[in-house]
Amino acid sequence: MVLGLDIKPISPIPFPNVHLIEADIYDPEIEKKILNELRGFADVLLSDLSPQIIGAWDVDHARQIDLARRAIAIAKNVLRPRGNALIKMFHGPELKGLQEEAGKMFFRSRLYKPQASRPESSEIYFLGLGLRNWVAKEREGMEGQAEDEDGKNRDVTVE
Ligand SMILES: C[S@@+](CC[C@H](N)C(=O)[O-])C[C@H]1O[C@@H](n2cnc3c(N)ncnc32)[C@H](O)[C@@H]1O
Repeated sequence: MVLGLDIKPISPIPFPNVHLIEADIYDPEIEKKILNELRGFADVLLSDLSPQIIGAWDVDHARQIDLARRAIAIAKNVLRPRGNALIKMFHGPELKGLQEEAGKMFFRSRLYKPQASRPESSEIYFLGLGLRNWVAKEREGMEGQAEDEDGKNRDVTVE
C-alpha cells in the first residue's frame, strides 16, 4: 500500500493500493493517523516536503529544515525496524546537525543528490537505510505491526 499525504488537496491517483490524505504534518495526531491508514508500520518513508518559497534564503532554509525535522520524527514513529527513509533537506547551516541527528537512527545513511534534481537547487536528500531497533523501542503510545530481530512480524503496542 502507498499512502500519500499533503496539506493541500492531491489529485486522485486511480490505483486501489494508493490512499491519499489531506493533513498537516504538524498535527500531533499525525503518526496515529498514518499508522491507522497503513494498519501497521511503513517499509519506506519518502518526504519531498517544502515550504512556500519566499526567496529569502535563510528563512526558506529554516522553514524547510523544520519540515524535514518533523519528517524524521514521523519516520521514527511510523517506520518498521529496518525500514528506510528518503527525506528532502535544504543546504544551509542547519543541514549538518540534522543529518547527524537523523543518521544515528539508521544503520547506514548519506546525503544524495538525484540526477533529476536541478544542480542550482539547494535541495538534497537524506537517505537512511535500516531503522535501528532502539529507535522503535523509544516510540510512545504507538500501535501496529513490527518486525523483531528474528524477522517475525508481531503486533505491538509501544508505551
Ligand atoms: C515540493 S512540493 C512536493 C511536490 C510533490 N513531490 C509532487 O511531485 O507533486 C512540497 C509539498 O509540501 C507540502 N507541505 C508543506 N508544508 C506541509 C505541511 N505542514 N504538512 C503537509 N504538507 C506540507 C506542500 O503543500 C507541497 O505540496
